[in-house]
Amino acid sequence: MIKNPDDFGRVAVMMGGSAAEREVSLKSGAAVFAALKRKGVDAVAIDVTGSPIDALAGLKLDRVFNIIHGRGGEDGVLQAVLQVMGIPYTGSGVMASALTMDKLRTKLCWRGYDLPTPKWVLLKTIDDLDACIDKLGFPVIVKPAQEGSSIGMSKANNREELEKALKVASEFGCDVYAESWVTGKEYTVGLLNGKALPVIRLETPNAFYDYEAKYKATTTQYHCPCGLNTEQEQQLQQLAVQASEVVVVKGWARVDVFIDDSGQPQLIEINTVPGMTDHSLVPMAAKQAGIEFDELVWKILETSCR
Ligand SMILES: Nc1ncnc2c1ncn2[C@@H]1O[C@H](COP(=O)(O)OP(=O)(O)OP(=O)(O)O)[C@@H](O)[C@H]1O
Ligand SMILES: [Mg+2]
Repeated sequence: MIKNPDDFGRVAVMMGGSAAEREVSLKSGAAVFAALKRKGVDAVAIDVTGSPIDALAGLKLDRVFNIIHGRGGEDGVLQAVLQVMGIPYTGSGVMASALTMDKLRTKLCWRGYDLPTPKWVLLKTIDDLDACIDKLGFPVIVKPAQEGSSIGMSKANNREELEKALKVASEFGCDVYAESWVTGKEYTVGLLNGKALPVIRLETPNAFYDYEAKYKATTTQYHCPCGLNTEQEQQLQQLAVQASEVVVVKGWARVDVFIDDSGQPQLIEINTVPGMTDHSLVPMAAKQAGIEFDELVWKILETSCR
């Protein structure tokens, strides 16, 4: 545990990036940077627009607070650059970042450990639609495997919608898969240093927690306490911790999970660089645990001291 801000040395808050979630990252980055400043940390904000190597060139740094969401920041690439440069950084390492950026590969790992996750089918071309309909039926949700913020995702209730959803998701230059639609309640579990924060339940009148519901709508509801009883909440927290351990996630993260109408949890995905705006979910969960935003930022920065 670090007591004195000087012990962190000079900290670069790396934000922005060129992924679809750039704007969200800039907001998270601004909030993190302001918090570090308030805490007396010697922080410098870096908006990464091109190569992270160029962005870091000539800077004397002791560590990086990485808050770039999505590809290029959350996927192991930046982590590898920093590792080679010998600069400590917050959060997960190269392998966990790369693996969890790909939701489909993450599901394969979970499946290998017998952890519950909805059934899915890889969709390469429209020739795969029949097999998908046979295996999953309807409805399904179609996703690009490596995007975040619900970008490129849609629900499909019939073959025509499935075909359209595949087209939309194929625009993102990564694998596309269809997943069985889960009917039930949606939760998210923040993790800090291997421990789960209080669970949040999300509720939206939209078909699902889409981009609009995440960043624009005023109708999205966040319940924390989440409404589960203590034992149920602990079970969900335990599952989230396990789901992160099997893919070697470190430092901090956020696990998205449903409990379906039969009471069965269904793991959806892990975010290794979750949102950190003052409206984001990890700060909300931390607050419920008595950890204010600035202190949370400090604790996440401590995860770079390994
Ligand atoms: N199998 C499913 N059944 C029903 N709804 C789902 C399913 N999978 C995802 N969703 C809905 O879509 C949303 C986004 O899905 P997911 O978490 O996989 O994508 P993401 O874009 O990576 O999200 P994030 O912004 O958390 O990175 C979920 O929050 C949930 O509301
Ligand atoms: Mg998600």
